[in-house]
Amino acid sequence: MSRPAIDFFRDAFGEPPRAVASAPGRVNLIGEHTDYNGGPVLPIAIAERTTVAVGPGPVNAPGVLEAVSTRYHKVIRVRWQEELPKGWAAYVAGVLRELWALEALPRMDGGGVRIAVTSTVPVGAGLASSAALSVAAAKALVTLAGATLTPRQVAGVAFRAECDHVGVRCGVMDQTIAALAKREHALLLECASLETRQIPFHARLFLVDSGVRHNLSAGRLNERRAECEAAVKRLKVELPELVWLASWPAQWLLRLKRALREPLRSRAVHVVGETARTRLAAQLLERGRLKQFGALLYESHESCRRLYDCSAPELDTIVAAAKRAGALGARLTGAGWGGAAIVLVSKTDKKTIPAIQRAFQRSYGRTPPVMEVAASAGTHTERL
Ligand code: GLA
Repeated sequence: MSRPAIDFFRDAFGEPPRAVASAPGRVNLIGEHTDYNGGPVLPIAIAERTTVAVGPGPVNAPGVLEAVSTRYHKVIRVRWQEELPKGWAAYVAGVLRELWALEALPRMDGGGVRIAVTSTVPVGAGLASSAALSVAAAKALVTLAGATLTPRQVAGVAFRAECDHVGVRCGVMDQTIAALAKREHALLLECASLETRQIPFHARLFLVDSGVRHNLSAGRLNERRAECEAAVKRLKVELPELVWLASWPAQWLLRLKRALREPLRSRAVHVVGETARTRLAAQLLERGRLKQFGALLYESHESCRRLYDCSAPELDTIVAAAKRAGALGARLTGAGWGGAAIVLVSKTDKKTIPAIQRAFQRSYGRTPPVMEVAASAGTHTERL
């Protein structure tokens, strides 16, 4: 796993790296757009990983970050304390700034560092490729510094890098699962308290890629988050102590609907409903009730589509075809507006995936890529 990153580092910089770490992408089983609203999420890590090899910075260039990625090939060279690079290296610079503040970076040469990145996590497919990068970079750099950070602290560094430096107003889900994931487990994460529960996950799950790509920082996620904040502001008139939208009592739905106008009403109804669904889904999964669990996935998709308005026609085609073919459940995963859908099938089911591909082919003239996903491990350092 670490070999390509080590070789790539050596090719780019003419010397071997001093530390290597990797982190996974994720799919979220249920709990969409709840994390930044203080609600629960239920993601698993996938086998696709990003690997980051690091070493000291170039000589006579204090405070300089040199970064390369197999995806882009150009060497990025930047004084990261003064300037935030554009594109993927901004995440790395954000991580450097956060680690510097924590004194968890080598202090010599003003924090100069070299980084080489290899990855098998698809970009823009809703699989949290940026969190895999930020978490792997944080883990590798902490190892280089000989510092010790807990997995939760690594997740915190990566989260603040994305949120405070890159400016994507994401929640804590992606970085937390990339840091804390356990093989064959889903993670129930309560995002307001950061309470976690590992739940065994052995079901057969496929990922169907709609092929529609989205750019998060440019867009709709920030807009939705602003809408949710506006909803909380208005709802505080009803419930003065309300902090998180997800904490609105589910039994007061009528009151919520009366207090809000569209589109805030729909957004808030989604968040409150999705919060209840996710907690119930975690209980059902724990008891092995896959059929009922799957039914909640369909409900979640419908709520994302109708109320949160974050689906795409291609995703709806996949989910509808899954339902017709008798899949246990299916829904978009991640922010939405493109990316991939998950499809949950029984152990013996052989016909659902081909049926989805045929339906998609009929509508869009191409066959969507499909991969089976297994719940994988979180970030770790790799052997040199
Ligand atoms: C993106 C964000 C996550 C989460 C999802 C929606 O993937 O990075 O933090 O908000 O959208 O559930």
